Amino acid sequence: MPTKKKNPLIDALNEAIAEELTAITQYMWHHTMAQGMESQSVREIFRKASIEEMKHAEVLAERLDYLGGVPTTRPNEIKMGGNLQKMIRDNLNLENEAIVMYKRIIKMCGDDSTTRRMLEEILADEEEHASTFESLLSIQK
Ligand SMILES: [Fe+2]
Ligand SMILES: [Fe+2]
Repeated sequence: MPTKKKNPLIDALNEAIAEELTAITQYMWHHTMAQGMESQSVREIFRKASIEEMKHAEVLAERLDYLGGVPTTRPNEIKMGGNLQKMIRDNLNLENEAIVMYKRIIKMCGDDSTTRRMLEEILADEEEHASTFESLLSIQK
């Protein structure tokens, strides 16, 4: 009996889910821990970004389930602590890594245009997050 070939996208989507779980937690905890009146608007940006990452995790998990995979529950390393500028820099780094990752996974989609479209939409959000964090960094300097 021929063995069923495992779809390589399943592991890649789980890699993306792990990245999203990292971002969800990192941004929400930064939202909680960032102190000081001047950080009110930044804290709100962290919170909003965290919720958007949760939506990414949701659509990724639904797609993974459809493809026959089981979504991971494990985030990657979560960067905590430091002042507001360090938090923003850590978050910008995470977004930049996500952008590289999504571009790589999009190339793996082949004729799976549903997954590709989903990933392209997520990528656009990550690019927006990166540019938000980038402009916050220049304000904080
Ligand atoms: Fe995301
Ligand atoms: Fe993001």
